[in-house]
Amino acid sequence: MSITIHAYDSQENIGSVVASMIGAIVKKKPNAAIGVATGSSPLCVYKALESEVQNGLDVSQVQWYALDEYIGLSRSHPQSYYQFLKCYLVDPLGIAECNLHVPQGTVEGCQDNAKRYEDEVINAGIDLQILGIGENGHIGFNEPGTSFLSKTHCGTLTESTRHANARFFENEIGEVPYSCITQGLSTIMHARAVRLIATGRTKSRAIHDAVQGQISEKCPASILQMHSDVVFLLDRDAGSEL
Ligand code: F6R
Repeated sequence: MSITIHAYDSQENIGSVVASMIGAIVKKKPNAAIGVATGSSPLCVYKALESEVQNGLDVSQVQWYALDEYIGLSRSHPQSYYQFLKCYLVDPLGIAECNLHVPQGTVEGCQDNAKRYEDEVINAGIDLQILGIGENGHIGFNEPGTSFLSKTHCGTLTESTRHANARFFENEIGEVPYSCITQGLSTIMHARAVRLIATGRTKSRAIHDAVQGQISEKCPASILQMHSDVVFLLDRDAGSEL
């Protein structure tokens, strides 16, 4: 098995390709389960999905499952992933909020929350998982060194990830949470299909390691080399080290 690479000239093109894949799945299976990432990379998909919906795609029964959430931010915090998905996915597409599933990022009961979310995701059976990738090769918030066998769990963010995400917190590094709850690597591998989006030169090393490096917990995304239906959708810069 190997990772299929598709290169594109713009994020808009990546967005419309992934949105039409989602459209095709939803037309066949109106209550499909779609795994959604946060961060900059998937925004082009959510934008393009808006056009699909305007053109008649019915997403009223689709169930949307987040990959992860910060621990310690309330759901109403503007930088919580719950709010992110509400702002860029749920509200623009007119999705009922009960169809959005995000792990609870409360400090208390973290293990229980993780177990509950793992069961929810596995029972749903993700039809297509959208991923971004961290500069250190993380997927979800599975940082380097996370076990390939990991299920949904609570974890600690690396300093590099906190710094990369500080841009969402007005560059106030002290505001970026230290911990998270995330689908594990084995959870992500259960998805029937995985589509990973990466743009920009800062991602080129991680893309190289994920696609052509050793399959190793040092690069969490390298686990995807063992998935039977995975496509990386890249711009020229992100693919420049392949
Ligand atoms: C977000 C997530 C992360 C991001 C990654 C890349 O739900 O799970 O793995 O996909 O940090 O973030 P961006 O796209 O902002 O570069």
